[in-house]
Amino acid sequence: MELLNILYINDIEAVRDIYVMRLEANYGAFIIEAASASEAVEKLKEEDDISLIISALDLDCEENLEIYHQNLLKSEALPFIQMSNDDLKNTKYYSNFKDDHPANTQITSPVDPKLFKKALVFAGSCIFDRPWTPPQASDHYTHVKMSNFLRLNKIPIDASIKLSDTKYVKVIEREQIYGHEQLERYVEKGVEGLYVFAKEYKILADYTSKALLGLYARKPKNKKDAIKLQLASLEDVHTRMNDEGLTKEAVALTKKTMEASVAQVKSTPGIWQLINKMEANKGYIYDHSLKVSFVSIAIAKKSEWNSDGTCYKLSLAALMHDMCLTDHELAKIQRLEEIEEGRWSEDDLEVYRNHGLEAGKLIKGNKQLPADVDFIVEQHHERPDSNGFPRGISKNFIAPLACLFILAHEFVHRVSDMDGEFSPENCQVVIDQLANEDYNKGNFKKPFQGLINAFTPKEDHIKKRR
Ligand SMILES: [Fe+2]
Ligand SMILES: [Fe+2]
Repeated sequence: MELLNILYINDIEAVRDIYVMRLEANYGAFIIEAASASEAVEKLKEEDDISLIISALDLDCEENLEIYHQNLLKSEALPFIQMSNDDLKNTKYYSNFKDDHPANTQITSPVDPKLFKKALVFAGSCIFDRPWTPPQASDHYTHVKMSNFLRLNKIPIDASIKLSDTKYVKVIEREQIYGHEQLERYVEKGVEGLYVFAKEYKILADYTSKALLGLYARKPKNKKDAIKLQLASLEDVHTRMNDEGLTKEAVALTKKTMEASVAQVKSTPGIWQLINKMEANKGYIYDHSLKVSFVSIAIAKKSEWNSDGTCYKLSLAALMHDMCLTDHELAKIQRLEEIEEGRWSEDDLEVYRNHGLEAGKLIKGNKQLPADVDFIVEQHHERPDSNGFPRGISKNFIAPLACLFILAHEFVHRVSDMDGEFSPENCQVVIDQLANEDYNKGNFKKPFQGLINAFTPKEDHIKKRR
C-alpha cells in the first residue's frame, strides 16, 4: 500500500496534534512533525523519504520562509501545501509557487475540508504517478502518539499497547477514566504511543478537536499567541455552529474566548498595540469579531459601562454577532444599500438580513451564556439616522449598550477600510467622521465620549511618535 510521508509544520502544539491525527486518520499518512522552520529544515535534511510538505507557519518572518527555500534547493522539489491567507506572489521565494511543483497548493483560512482533501489527493496522484485515493480505514491497529492520551483522561475508544506484531494488550478502556502514571512509565521505557483500531481513529480525532478548550488552561506564551488562540477558537465555534448549532463544547469555547478577550483588554494599557498585533489570516469574520470585542471593551473601560459583567456581555456580542453568516464577503457589508445587485442569491440576502436576529435567538436560547446580550446582537446594524436594519430605529430608541457596540463595530470597520492600522491619526479621522454623522447624539452620546477617551491619543503620545 502506498502511504504519503508528510512533513507537517505548525508552531502551535495542540493544533499540530489535531492535524497530525486527522492526517493519519483520514489519509493513512505517516507524519513527521516540526514545530518551527529550523526544525523542519533539519528534518528535511535528515529524512529522505518525505514525499509532501504541509506548512501552517506564518509568512511574516524571514525564518519561516526558509523551509520553502530549502525545498526549492533540493534536486527535485517536493510538493508543498502552504496554509496561509497571504499573497504568495509577493512573498520572498514563493513568487513562482504554482509553477515550482504541479501539486503546490495554497490553502486559505477558514480551511475548506473539500479543497484540503482535493489538494492532498492531487499531491498523492503526482507522487505515486497514478490516480491515488486515501487508503480505507481497516480492522488493523494504528499508532497514536502518547501525548494525545496524556492530554486527556477519558477517550471514547479502546487503546492498546503493542507487545509483538500479533499481540496487543488493552491499556485504556473506552469511556473509563484513566490515570497517567502507567502511561508515563511506558514513555520512560521508550514506548512512543498506543494503538487503536484504524476504523475508530476518526472518533478519537474528533474527540481531541475539543483539546482547543484545554489550551486556555495553559497560559499562552505572549499576546500574539493569545490572539492566535482566540482566533482559532472562533473558527472552531463557527465551523461547528454551521454543522451542529451551538453545541455544549462550542458554548464552553465561546465563554473561554470571551473571558480571555476581556482579561486581555483589561490588562493592556495601549489598546492600539494589541489590535495592531493581530494578523488578518484567519478569515474576516474572526478577525473582525475579535477586534470589535477589543474595541467595545476598551470603550466600556472609559465609560460608565466598566463593570466586568457588562464587558463580558459586549465581548460575547462581538464574538457571536456575525456567526450566523458563512460568507466572509457578505459579512463585510455594513448597510443594505452596499449590496451589489446580482452578486448574491435571494437566499443569501435573506440570511444576511436576518443574521443579527438569528444570532440573538441562539444566544438567548442558551442558559450557559450571559443574559441580555441578544438585543445588542439584534441591533448591531441599526444606525443613528434610522437607516439601519432590521428595524430602522433611530438614535433615541436604540438601547445605550447597543449604541456602544454599534460605535465599536463601525469604528473597527472604518479603520480597517483605511489601511487597517489603528494609528492615532486613523483613529482621529474616523472619530471626526462619526461625529459628523450623528454618532455622538441621542443614546450614542455617552458611548461616543467613551470612544474619544479610549482612542484619542494623549499629546505626549503623539509627540513620541514624531
Ligand atoms: Fe460585523
Ligand atoms: Fe453583521
